[in-house]
Amino acid sequence: MAIFEARNITQSYEGVPIIEDICLALNHGEVVCLIGASGVGKSTLFQVLSGMKKPDSGGVFLNGEDITGKTGMVSYMLQKDMLLPFMNVIDNVALPYRLKGFKKKEAREKVRSYFGQFGLEGAQDKLPDQLSGGMRQRAAFMRTYFFGREVVLLDEPFSALDELTKADLYEWYLNIGGELGLATLFISHSLEEAVSLSNRVYVMSGVPGRIEAEVAIKRRGSLREFCSTSEFSEYKNRLRDLL
Ligand SMILES: Nc1ncnc2c1ncn2[C@@H]1O[C@H](COP(=O)(O)OP(=O)(O)O)[C@@H](O)[C@H]1O
Ligand SMILES: [Mg+2]
Repeated sequence: MAIFEARNITQSYEGVPIIEDICLALNHGEVVCLIGASGVGKSTLFQVLSGMKKPDSGGVFLNGEDITGKTGMVSYMLQKDMLLPFMNVIDNVALPYRLKGFKKKEAREKVRSYFGQFGLEGAQDKLPDQLSGGMRQRAAFMRTYFFGREVVLLDEPFSALDELTKADLYEWYLNIGGELGLATLFISHSLEEAVSLSNRVYVMSGVPGRIEAEVAIKRRGSLREFCSTSEFSEYKNRLRDLL
C-alpha cells in the first residue's frame, strides 16, 4: 500500500480553477518527481498536500488515514526556503525542535551529531551567508529532515543552484534519502533533474493543472554512468513530448 496518497484534489483561487482531480501516490523509500510548466499549479498542490490549504474537494491520506487540512504530518520544504540570515546554522537547522517546544540548548543537542552526515561539519556556528550555495541547501534539507516525518515534500529544492553543485547534490540526496529511509516527492521544472533523481515522474499540464502522465524510471549503475546512457536521453525526450 502507498504510504502517502492524494485522491481527486481540486483547488481554485477566487473561483478560478487552478488544479483539478489530482491523484498521486508515494511508496516507501521512493523518490518521485512532479514536473510541469511554471504556473501549472505545482506549489498550490503542495500546499494542499502539506495541509496548509484545504482543497475544494478531494483528500490527502497518510498510511490510509485522512490527514486533509492537517499540518505537521509530512516534512515540507517551501519553494525558496531561506535560512534566517541573522541566525547561525545550528540554530537554523534546529528550528523544528524549537517549534516543538525544546529550549535553544536542547534543540542544538538534538541536531549536533548530524552535521557530518549532512556534509556540514564545521558549519555549525557560521551564518548562512558564509556558506556556499550547496551547503546552504544541505542545511535547508537538514532543517526539513528535523520535522521528523518519513514523507518529505520538496518544492523546487535544487532550482537556485549552479549545474556543478546540482550534480553533486543529486547524488548526495539519493544517498542520504536512502540512509534515512525517506519517501520524497519533489517539484522540478528540469527534465534532467526529474530523470536523474526519480523512481517515477508525474507530468502535470493544462489549465487547470492535471496529472497527464506517469513515467517509471529505471536507473542503472551510478548516477554519473546513468546520465551518459542513451536510456537517460530517451527518458528526457519522452518527458519533453509529454509536457
Ligand atoms: N494565493 C493565491 N491567490 C490567487 N492565485 C494564486 C495564489 N497562488 C497561486 N495562484 C495562481 O495559481 C496558479 C498556479 O500557481 P503555482 O501553484 O504557484 O504554480 P507553479 O508552482 O506550478 O509554478 C498561478 O496562476 C498563480 O497565479
Ligand atoms: Mg511553484
